[in-house]
Amino acid sequence: MVRVIEAELPPVVQIQSNAQTSAGTKQSVDSLSFKKKVQNFWQNSPCDSCFTTEQPGTPAFYKTLDEHRYKMHPRLHSAVEFEKTKGLRVLEVGCGCGSEAERFARAGAHYTAVDLTNAAVNLTQRRFQLEKLEGRFVQADAEDLPFANGSFDLVYSHGVLHHTPDTARSVQEVHRVLAPGGRAVIMLYYRDSFNYQVNLRVVRRFRARLLKTEVGFKLAQMIWGEPVEELRRHAELIKQDSGSYLNMQNMLNRNTDGPDNPLSQVFSRASARRMFWQFQNIRTEVMFWNPNWLPGIGKVLPHSIEDRLASRWGWHLWIYAQKRHLEFTGERVPLQARPRINAQAPSEAVAS
Ligand SMILES: C[S@@+](CC[C@H](N)C(=O)[O-])C[C@H]1O[C@@H](n2cnc3c(N)ncnc32)[C@H](O)[C@@H]1O
Repeated sequence: MVRVIEAELPPVVQIQSNAQTSAGTKQSVDSLSFKKKVQNFWQNSPCDSCFTTEQPGTPAFYKTLDEHRYKMHPRLHSAVEFEKTKGLRVLEVGCGCGSEAERFARAGAHYTAVDLTNAAVNLTQRRFQLEKLEGRFVQADAEDLPFANGSFDLVYSHGVLHHTPDTARSVQEVHRVLAPGGRAVIMLYYRDSFNYQVNLRVVRRFRARLLKTEVGFKLAQMIWGEPVEELRRHAELIKQDSGSYLNMQNMLNRNTDGPDNPLSQVFSRASARRMFWQFQNIRTEVMFWNPNWLPGIGKVLPHSIEDRLASRWGWHLWIYAQKRHLEFTGERVPLQARPRINAQAPSEAVAS
């Protein structure tokens, strides 16, 4: 559990999710109460903060967190191309602890952070204070962004929109707040990945069976080397209701961002493209390989093989897309008339 430093910080703008969204549509009560669970989870465990033991909000906290992050994700810098964002109005949806936020600001972007939790917003704001950088920080919902149409040149979101119940709505919001010609760079979990198709479907289900006994627990700990506390929580949940734990949607939720994560979703390249139907110049790329997925040999594989595995079977689906220039934008199509990919929550957006 992370304690968020709030002292000395200017107040964060609080956006209450009301029934009517900026796009003029309604969010269902179910979706809002489900989102509350998502918010509570991330409020108590800001992204990546588990990878450092330093006091949250201190320089050492950000330093160790970033070192770990960019060691795990060596391709992230080239995927985002921070150096090309000088002078651009950049919105990051789901800023987490602000690692990329800092890089956008250092590159000279006019940076705005949004996150559903004030933990993330405060931690990012604190980072900017320490580094004497300028930015805007807003606690808000990706499905209802509190910005006027056409306010940004680039919207970036890494590992966020698959945690919100209505991902398709959040993509529509990204499109709305982009200026004509503006770009979206969005990372979502990839359905046709080794992690989803092999690790979660097969290996983690086998591990769940091991976790039912103390001997199996010790064996699992040896093989996967996961923190004991986390493994204990998995074992507890399996004991409570093994059938429900093994349900694929629950496997996905519990085995991606921690055992109590309420929602993760996966997308194929085709379902992602359908969600980005309003955009042009859509390009997708697959990245990120975790050596722990192959216990024993994963850590000794040469980088060249890891790179090849990552680009075919990786876990992160990057979507690059551009909002059409003014001459190509027609009438606004009412939201109700647009294709819905994952309007129900929770659901597995697995359309291919
Ligand atoms: C896995 S973390 C990713 C954070 C950061 N982008 C990173 O890569 O480290 C997910 C983040 O998404 C935020 N989030 C989830 N649903 C959201 C929503 N509907 N609107 C805004 N942020 C949301 C969470 O609060 C959390 O900070």
